[in-house]
Amino acid sequence: MSTLLVEGGTVVTASGAQRADVLVDGEQVVALLAPGGPARPPEGCRRIDATGKLVVPGGIDVHTHMEMPFGGTRSADTFSSGTRAAAHGGTTTIVDFAIQPRGGSAREGLETWAARAEGHCAIDFGFHMILSDVTEPVLKEMPGLVDDGVTSFKLFMAYPGVFYSDDGQILRAMQTAAGCGALVMMHAENGIAIDVLVSQALARGAGDPRMHGETRPSVLEGEATHRAVVLAGVAGCPLYIVHLSATEALAEVAAARDAGRQVFAETCPQYLFLDEALMAAPGFEGAKYVCSPPIRARAHHEALWRGLGTGDLSVVSTDHCPFCMKDQKELGRGDFSKIPNGLPGVEHRMDLVYQGVVDGRLSLARWVELTSTAPARLFGMYPKKGSLLPGADADLVVYDPDRRHTLSASSHHMAVDYSAYEGTEVTGGVDVVVSRGEVVVEHGEFTGTEGHGRFVPRAPFGGLDVPARGPNAVGRP
Ligand code: URP
Ligand code: ZN
Ligand code: ZN
Repeated sequence: MSTLLVEGGTVVTASGAQRADVLVDGEQVVALLAPGGPARPPEGCRRIDATGKLVVPGGIDVHTHMEMPFGGTRSADTFSSGTRAAAHGGTTTIVDFAIQPRGGSAREGLETWAARAEGHCAIDFGFHMILSDVTEPVLKEMPGLVDDGVTSFKLFMAYPGVFYSDDGQILRAMQTAAGCGALVMMHAENGIAIDVLVSQALARGAGDPRMHGETRPSVLEGEATHRAVVLAGVAGCPLYIVHLSATEALAEVAAARDAGRQVFAETCPQYLFLDEALMAAPGFEGAKYVCSPPIRARAHHEALWRGLGTGDLSVVSTDHCPFCMKDQKELGRGDFSKIPNGLPGVEHRMDLVYQGVVDGRLSLARWVELTSTAPARLFGMYPKKGSLLPGADADLVVYDPDRRHTLSASSHHMAVDYSAYEGTEVTGGVDVVVSRGEVVVEHGEFTGTEGHGRFVPRAPFGGLDVPARGPNAVGRP
């Protein structure tokens, strides 16, 4: 295995910034060297010039859906295309969602997803488990999955008849999670009430994409978030609200955290940047923006940016779930409830959140924390992932803070025929990406290999603290 020196850059981690050279041996970071200091890199190592650039831990996107069956089709990125696109955007680990088939076992779902991912990923990957049918046998499977490094379980308060769990099922799953060190992730929207509003809209002939937003009001996200927090409290289980989009939901999370509860939440770039008015675009164009929860009005975006700054929101992930307009989103022409839900975004997360640094809303360290370190901590991967400590996996990004570029379907690498951010100009861009010591992207070119990515077994939930033990603790014998 070769050695690599990333020299001349400013190393930014969640704890701050310093001028340092990063020395990599094989797959691991071995040292941060002070520039001009006494420690010298080995002769003949490969050098990457990071002068004028930031050097940050590789991004970690803990919410992706590659090849996900949904609404009679399957999300357009495979593990191969989706992880390449992620790498182009500076993400070196994804955690995707395996799905328990209704009437089947969770283990079966995990095996299906593992077979899709193994040998195809360009970067490392882990799995959460979606429980779509919480039964006694499935509850019994949970501890075994935790032992195998699948330590987080997603439940849905939305999508009755598909993924939905009722409050009793949720409570049982939370109790089981509390007993085996798992984290419960919640899709918090009141799906029963939403389905009433959807039926009423369709009955009066209102089938346009804009109705997707109107039938999923933010109060129903707030209500479900409140219920999830209460149920997690009864079960004594940590809770992570996924894709939080609304001020009402944020207030529930903030109140729980103020009360000292282990309640965390992520938001996604679409809820920070995309206005609900986009769903009312002429013709069927609004379908491009149909995801759940729906994109919301500007006032919500402002509150979410504040939540990222205050710490009430812990993570930015993408909920990358791309469907092409052609043949996929089109399934819902005339009936918005049949538009496959989801947006592409895995490639743009680091750049979009970086705009918070450009605008002065976030510090550099907070940018790294939200996109890499906090996801690693909350999902049992820190400090092997999400840090540049000696012994950590050599997942890193050389990031140009000044490069300006425009997001577009004509230049992105995701396997989808539109961009939700078409024409958006951003400042800051990825120069070089290293995944476990392998240079996988260099100045816009993919230089990695399909199948380089490995499964990351994750430790049980440990909060935002540094674990002393577990499969990803540095120095583990
Ligand atoms: O619209 C969305 N979010 N699609 C993906 C599935 C989910 O609920 O995360
Ligand atoms: Zn969801
Ligand atoms: Zn999702």
